[in-house]
Amino acid sequence: MNAFKPPLPLRFQTPAAWAAAALADPAALLSDHAHCEKKAALNALNLSLSLADLPRASVLLARLAEEELNHYRRVLELMQAQGWPLQPDTGNAYAQGLHKLAAKGLLDRLLIGALIEARSCERLWLLEQEGANHPDLGATSWLAFLLELERCEAGHALAFRSLAEERFGAEAQARLDWWLDREAEVIQALPWRSVVH
Ligand SMILES: [Fe+2]
Ligand SMILES: [Fe+2]
Repeated sequence: MNAFKPPLPLRFQTPAAWAAAALADPAALLSDHAHCEKKAALNALNLSLSLADLPRASVLLARLAEEELNHYRRVLELMQAQGWPLQPDTGNAYAQGLHKLAAKGLLDRLLIGALIEARSCERLWLLEQEGANHPDLGATSWLAFLLELERCEAGHALAFRSLAEERFGAEAQARLDWWLDREAEVIQALPWRSVVH
């Protein structure tokens, strides 16, 4: 397995065995991921309301929301091709765990966005490694899609961090250091299920 370098220096490395557990129910995994992509699009639009005075932010967040909406549609299409329905949204325990710790308003919203994107990248990469062996997933197109998502989410992680740094300066860097420890605690405490995180 090649080394993977996440876009942020995550402090917990997901074991490779996680991917096989997540792929135990690919229909549930994709359904959960569809909900995540939709929420990512909405989150980017909501953040643009709070950053309307930063000239770069509106364009960057509009592009980001567009990309997430594109991912959402394509995950839905992939599910439709497999005959897998969108299941009810059971909530994202990982994102909820992070948001429960937030205390610094917009700064934390941006940094949580960066962390979720970085963790998604790591997990998508692990799914790519495992997915090559998975019979249900129509290997080639599935793997190419995961790779595209992984690269795109890496860009989003860096975009959120750069917006946090542009708005909050050195405070953003100190707060990210604090968050990297919290994120490692939150992700490790979650059970493995057929979800990305
Ligand atoms: Fe996405
Ligand atoms: Fe993203």
